[in-house]
Amino acid sequence: MPEILENISLKNFNTFGVEAKARWFADINKEDDLINLFSDPKWMSTERLIVGGGSNMLFTQDFDGLVIRVNIKGITQIEDGDDVYVTAGGGEVWNNLVNYCVDRDFAGMENLSLIPGSVGASPVQNIGAYGVELKDVFFSCRAYMIETGAILSFSNTDCKFDYRDSIFKKELKGKVIITAVTYKLSKKPSLNITYGAIAAELQNREIEAPTIKDISTVVSAIRVSKLPDPSTIGNAGSFFKNPVVSKDTFERIQSVFPDTVHYCLPNNTVKLAAGWLIEQCGWKGKKIGQAGTWKNQALVLVNYGNASGLDIYDISEKIILDVKDKFGVLLEREVNVI
Ligand code: EPU
Repeated sequence: MPEILENISLKNFNTFGVEAKARWFADINKEDDLINLFSDPKWMSTERLIVGGGSNMLFTQDFDGLVIRVNIKGITQIEDGDDVYVTAGGGEVWNNLVNYCVDRDFAGMENLSLIPGSVGASPVQNIGAYGVELKDVFFSCRAYMIETGAILSFSNTDCKFDYRDSIFKKELKGKVIITAVTYKLSKKPSLNITYGAIAAELQNREIEAPTIKDISTVVSAIRVSKLPDPSTIGNAGSFFKNPVVSKDTFERIQSVFPDTVHYCLPNNTVKLAAGWLIEQCGWKGKKIGQAGTWKNQALVLVNYGNASGLDIYDISEKIILDVKDKFGVLLEREVNVI
């Protein structure tokens, strides 16, 4: 049975670094811990919250239930010709896994370098950056089904991946705990350098034939230059999703704001850059008390010191209203608000 702690501060378990208390807290180090935990009917019927690295969560209040922190470690791999299947425990730190793969020349994850969070959370919101999404390298995951106690395997298609979305955020929300993830990588890299900022940074460094390690280094440098480091300034990466609108809506916006940053998608839809919309509303680098937006990326909300979760939430509400007023577009939060 895992140890159950009481009245635990969650400040170190969320990358915003805001204060909130958990009524109960359990650290899960192996799958058996889950089986033992839920064999007690008390925990089966208690409200619960599953956390990994706490990098996609905003606590606006104490949590009067059981917080389950997945801390299952371990990385192994099986090689099959040019393919490599790397399996990592759900509690591994995502970037440690990326480094493990980059150091061994296993290609596929290098564009996802330095994303905060854990392996177990990576499929939940289909993390993505610089032209690559988790779904591009995801092979399968093991998941403990809380209600039945079964451990099931989910394939890539089972997960119903979409932009920052999966089955684990929809019909299976709160019902499963991902204990391990297997990624399919390659020893024969086909590097993805289509993203403008990567190509520009490679040129800056005069790198003509980039290696996997070069891509990882360049992506990390771009992230460091644009995004605040959660270990010193509390944040959860992009706070909102980039909104997808119809072509008609886009044309209406573009007729008033010709410079609207956008990417055309299939099916007559257009993705808008939420960071640009927010900046146009005057929010870039703005601070109210100890909460605000980042000076180099308006899409990132930050805790400049001792902001509360509610301070940050209030700013997000104001941003939503301003963007709606100016552009008629409704921003949707990427971060889970508790
Ligand atoms: N922009 C502005 N002002 C800003 C921020 C952005 O004008 O304050 C403009 C940029 O100039 C650029 C465009 O918006 O033309 C897009 O900006 P950026 O390349 O920084 O990417 P993003 O769309 O804001 C997304 C992901 C990030 C990911 C980057 C790079 C989402 C919600 N966010 O941001 O992911 O790192 O692309 O691929 O899709 C995360 O999800 O937490 C995250 C950091």
